[in-house]
Amino acid sequence: MQFSAKVLDISKQRTACSIISADVKNSLSHSGKSLDKLTGGMIGKILKRGDLGTKPGSTQLIDLIEGPSDRVLVVRAGKSSLTQAEFRKMAMNSATAVKKFKDAVSYLCELDVDGADKSWQAQQIALAAGLATYRFTQCQTDAKPYPLTKFAVHALERKQLKPIQAGIEVGAAQAVGSNVARELGDMPGNFCTPNYLASEARALAKKHTKLSTSVLDEKKMKALGMGAFLSVSKGSDQPPALIAMNYKGGKASDKPVVLVGKGITFDSGGISIKPGQSMDEMKYDMGGAASVFGVMNALLELQPAINVVGLVAAAENMPSGGASKPGDIVTSMSGKTIEILNTDAEGRLVLCDALTYAGKFKPRAVIDIATLTGACVIALGHHASGLYANNEKLAKELIKAGETTGDRAWQMPLWDEYQPSLDSNFADMQNIGGREAGSVTAACFLSRFTKDYNWAHMDIAGSAWKSGAAKGATGRPVPLLVEYLLGK
Ligand code: BES
Ligand code: MN
Ligand code: ZN
Repeated sequence: MQFSAKVLDISKQRTACSIISADVKNSLSHSGKSLDKLTGGMIGKILKRGDLGTKPGSTQLIDLIEGPSDRVLVVRAGKSSLTQAEFRKMAMNSATAVKKFKDAVSYLCELDVDGADKSWQAQQIALAAGLATYRFTQCQTDAKPYPLTKFAVHALERKQLKPIQAGIEVGAAQAVGSNVARELGDMPGNFCTPNYLASEARALAKKHTKLSTSVLDEKKMKALGMGAFLSVSKGSDQPPALIAMNYKGGKASDKPVVLVGKGITFDSGGISIKPGQSMDEMKYDMGGAASVFGVMNALLELQPAINVVGLVAAAENMPSGGASKPGDIVTSMSGKTIEILNTDAEGRLVLCDALTYAGKFKPRAVIDIATLTGACVIALGHHASGLYANNEKLAKELIKAGETTGDRAWQMPLWDEYQPSLDSNFADMQNIGGREAGSVTAACFLSRFTKDYNWAHMDIAGSAWKSGAAKGATGRPVPLLVEYLLGK
């Protein structure tokens, strides 16, 4: 998408669709009034009929016959003061309504939003427009991308141009990153294998000088003692890969933030096989890895002066004669032994070795992102990602980044009281807790491998994709992570 920020005169600006707003009393925004005048009061008269919903974010599309706009989309604004959530809804619904046109101009930055500046507003508009136009077309013969490719954001005054431009840049990069993550997520497991992810990482490094990629194969992982990681891939014909993407935007001496993504390209459960219902959705079990790819792409767009390492723990979890069995005991790279009581609790097994490996980068902070537990979906549903951290400052920064972008996380407890559920009679620990607090005990398991650095864990089992008629990857939590890394 090509975005621009301009001071525009709606009565002269040619476009397929102008996006304006009307408040609860049908009073139009500044440019809306100009357009209404130009149409001889037609927009006002149409609004009086009452077809536009009263909830903020409701939209009504009106075709115009005369004037420079082919159409006008009227979006309902709230009362005189708009909340951030209301504005975000307006941005998202208007983007969805105009994605079928080839270009659009948004006049929504004329509104004022509680506790937010023009840059924030522009960021939401660009993020929404980028997200709305995503479509997975690779495997459908006749599917075409949405036509919307040009999107202008109007500034009321010249002095707003700079902040609006800055906001657009960040929002657009967050959308690009999210859509990269969605594309990888929506790809079926027979295409998106650990090897495929490795080749994508190599291709990205080839295109960008600030990025380098290295891939640890099975042999190298064996040499490093990654017995937990390899216990997951050994039941599959697909070889595993531990992929490292190193973005160097800062000084060589700047400590990196390390992102670690769970990259199970298909999770059948292994010998503890899953029931058939919705098993196809386990192609999304690489959602954490996809978000790492998304973040790296967004960073390459924005080129911030920071260092970030993206690690992807890629493997397929399958049952076979060579697969791990319940009761098997493996030794992790940390030296700790793990009794595998359930082969379907495989994410923590690949992650614990990847997290040990992450320590080698002398990180400022490590954040792992994983579709880790069904229990997290029970606890939080689909709106919030579960957040755990051994450092309160890090937790707060991530929560704030989620609030800013509307890609929210909710903090969960990592209390010592939960740890004993992982005690094993035969090894240093077992890979599952009891029936209760499954998301918490999974996080507790990971916490045993992250003592040497500031660490946060995001359980995105509920937020990474949607089921049902709208089935598809969401690209979360790319906006949150990019926002955090930019330190805004
Ligand atoms: N990838 C799943 C978690 C998952 C399940 C995410 C359903 C989203 C929807 C993970 O590997 C898994 O199977 N976890 C088990 C853990 C259990 C065996 C302790 C689960 O959540 O049931
Ligand atoms: Mn599993
Ligand atoms: Zn899994």
